Amino acid sequence: MEIEALIRPDLAALEPYTPIVPFEALSARLGLPVERIIKLDANENPYGPAPGVREALARYPFYAIYPDPDQTELRAAISGYIGQPTERIICGNGSDEIIDLLMRLFVAPGEAVVEAPPTFGMYSFNTGVVGGRLVQVPRDEAFGVDVEAIAAAVEASRAKLIFLPSPNNPDGSLLPRAAVERLLELPAVLVVDEAYAEFSGQSVADLVGQAPNLVVLRTFSKWAGLAGLRIGYGLVPEPIIRHLWKIKPPYNINMAAHVAALASLAAVDELLANVRRIIAERERVFAALAAMPQVRVYPSAANFLLVRLRNGDGRAVKQALEQRGILIRHYNKPGLQDCIRISIGTPTHNDALLEALSDLLQN
Ligand SMILES: Cc1ncc(COP(=O)(O)O)c(C=O)c1O
Repeated sequence: MEIEALIRPDLAALEPYTPIVPFEALSARLGLPVERIIKLDANENPYGPAPGVREALARYPFYAIYPDPDQTELRAAISGYIGQPTERIICGNGSDEIIDLLMRLFVAPGEAVVEAPPTFGMYSFNTGVVGGRLVQVPRDEAFGVDVEAIAAAVEASRAKLIFLPSPNNPDGSLLPRAAVERLLELPAVLVVDEAYAEFSGQSVADLVGQAPNLVVLRTFSKWAGLAGLRIGYGLVPEPIIRHLWKIKPPYNINMAAHVAALASLAAVDELLANVRRIIAERERVFAALAAMPQVRVYPSAANFLLVRLRNGDGRAVKQALEQRGILIRHYNKPGLQDCIRISIGTPTHNDALLEALSDLLQN
């Protein structure tokens, strides 16, 4: 029997998601100890979790017991942080899981999902997994979205979901509030992915509940340094969230993530001080890159910078930096081949990156 013939043909043909190389494997490949690697490739937080997180994780006594499927305590704590009622909050195994749940809830095979590339890869990935049809409305040269083109695409394709991050990954540009308000007039659900909102100081979370079709996604991965523990959440109006609860895996939030998120919310001031450090570094690195004639750097409201190499390919620069123990991201996608994305690290990390990059570009 040909087992592969039993697999859904659309999934058998799906492009695999490009996995990241685990830290330990990379350390072995480069012959460098983990402490010597400067990891600026995945928009993680260089300061890590709040100190209270490690203590809370060590102290928690009930790891043998399943977590609360209703996430009651966690949702109450998030409500205090974000200013939305618990009834509009649902937590996921990273905000990635909320993207997946929204796709499953709304998109039947063949139905359309709209995104504006270049953008975060999970929207196209999850559209593929549910057999949806991806409708792409490209951004302009400065990565701005064409709101009326999106509106036209939604009408023409009868799309059910629109995914737009603010700030956008990979460039860090913001979605103007007026654009959100215009897109909410459409007969589709608008998902504003605010994974990096703490770095931008701008949010439309306050609009959730006022419009029936706005969902906002947030995460603890970036500002709170919990990317490895997987905890994010959606702010979702009641008529939608009722159905999301029905399809959510009951124990999707593991107890370690739950404990760590609560401890982070008890240390918001410390964590936001780290966010301010990262923002200050982003502006310093931006200025240093802007002074390099060989590159163009784009303004960013997130914890990373997109850099276009005026005459060079991103892959070569990525590989040369990797040899020096510095990891950054490069792109194979159309329009981005000559681009690299640099996550903001500590001042020491950023100095090492700037020095290595300037050295490479001059030689
Ligand atoms: C725009 C955007 N949304 C969501 C995520 C994923 O967040 P999480 O770690 O909560 O799944 C990322 C991570 O890089 C991102 O860039």
